[in-house]
Amino acid sequence: MTFRSRHPAIDRREFLKRAAPVAGAIALGGGSVVHGCGSDPSMPEPERRPLLRMPPTLEATSATLTAGAAELDLGTHTSRAWGYDAAAPGPTLRARVGGTADVRLLNRLAEDTTIHWHGMVVPAAMDGHPADIVRPGADYDYEYPIVQRAAMNWYHPHPHGRTGRQTWRGLAGAFIIADPDAEQGLPTGPREIPLLLRDALLDRSGQLEYRRRDSGLVGDFPLVNGVPYPRVTLAPALHRFRILNASNARVFRLGMADGARFTLIGNDGGLLEAPVELDRIDLGPAERVDVLVDLSGRAGTTLPLRCLDARWTLLEIRVAGEADDGNAIPSAFAPIPALSSGPGTREREFRFEGHRRINGREYEMDRIDFRVPLGDTEVWHFVSAGGAPHPVHVHGTHFQVLSRRGGRGRVFPWERGWKDTVLVEDDETVDVILRFERHRGVYLLHCHNLEHEDRGMMLNFEVT
Ligand code: C2O
Ligand code: CU
Repeated sequence: MTFRSRHPAIDRREFLKRAAPVAGAIALGGGSVVHGCGSDPSMPEPERRPLLRMPPTLEATSATLTAGAAELDLGTHTSRAWGYDAAAPGPTLRARVGGTADVRLLNRLAEDTTIHWHGMVVPAAMDGHPADIVRPGADYDYEYPIVQRAAMNWYHPHPHGRTGRQTWRGLAGAFIIADPDAEQGLPTGPREIPLLLRDALLDRSGQLEYRRRDSGLVGDFPLVNGVPYPRVTLAPALHRFRILNASNARVFRLGMADGARFTLIGNDGGLLEAPVELDRIDLGPAERVDVLVDLSGRAGTTLPLRCLDARWTLLEIRVAGEADDGNAIPSAFAPIPALSSGPGTREREFRFEGHRRINGREYEMDRIDFRVPLGDTEVWHFVSAGGAPHPVHVHGTHFQVLSRRGGRGRVFPWERGWKDTVLVEDDETVDVILRFERHRGVYLLHCHNLEHEDRGMMLNFEVT
């Protein structure tokens, strides 16, 4: 088989800027999140879609993850990749609120790595900080209590300057924290489906290819749980999709078709206060959404889960089989107390500049940029100064989004509740409120466009 040559993503973006009807973009909520859609993809949409794969599940109370070589089955052929336990994405870890995680990493790569538990509130030494590097051949025990709300988090490497390449090669996996009380009545088992979305690129010989691109590496075809353009057959019942954007730099604009809508119930930090019906969701790198899709009464139909920007059918859902009693969409979840600021609340501003700087500086592993007292409530302002979108991520806690000024000018339903990553477009300032309550130590604030992060758009702060 042959692999067609491709145009750099930027050409496609320029083309779209000129070709896209402006009114259409505004109707979708304003703000351009188009990243280049790969008109000539290295893996075109196949006529016969491969089956969706479900990563194996591991109990986090006592698990071992081996970082090493993996193979990506692309349907037409396989590509060399990296993975945890030889799988890309790696196993889905599961733990319960109030339980513990005890995960041993065996680094069988030929280079340094760490694991960062994205969205998990863990002691600093367990956070996978680039200073806590695990050498080739070495092991590291990550052990911590689960002291936060139920949510779908994820894990990926965090070595300085290499996070983009290692994650792109396949090192990533989901980490679901469950809380049977809070999640009562929601679909479980085969009705609860983690979907790890990313994009990818192949070289001329059909192998997964990483390229250094300061603006952020954007692929030209999608992978869902490591499978290109898969299909899945589901019963005509309510389903819960746990969706993660695990791409390095792409913003997915998720939508369905034929009048099917998402019922958004949660995001990075767990369940929202109440479900919201939506027909599209913009999901930046590292963000998660928890959605219910009601397939009852749809037996015999096929529903596409789409990226409306890239015009990809990410997943084709065939509805077949027997309906069962099923679950109903709950009308509300637990209230989320709002953090509030007062006259004495400390404020900080972070300007994300171009592709590598925050407030004029690039990351240095040994420099602590500021200190935050444990238990203090602060308001942080994330400002884009070119080079966006910047998905801004804070380690060590969750935040609440107060406002978005300029640009898209609003807080979207998927940004309510608790977040750990928020998308900042050019001409935007996003204001968040947060408090570090659990652990002292050195944590990271960075852009989760992984190429921006690797170039230096990251800083250390210390909770004291
Ligand atoms: Cu998912 Cu510091 O990263
Ligand atoms: Cu950035």
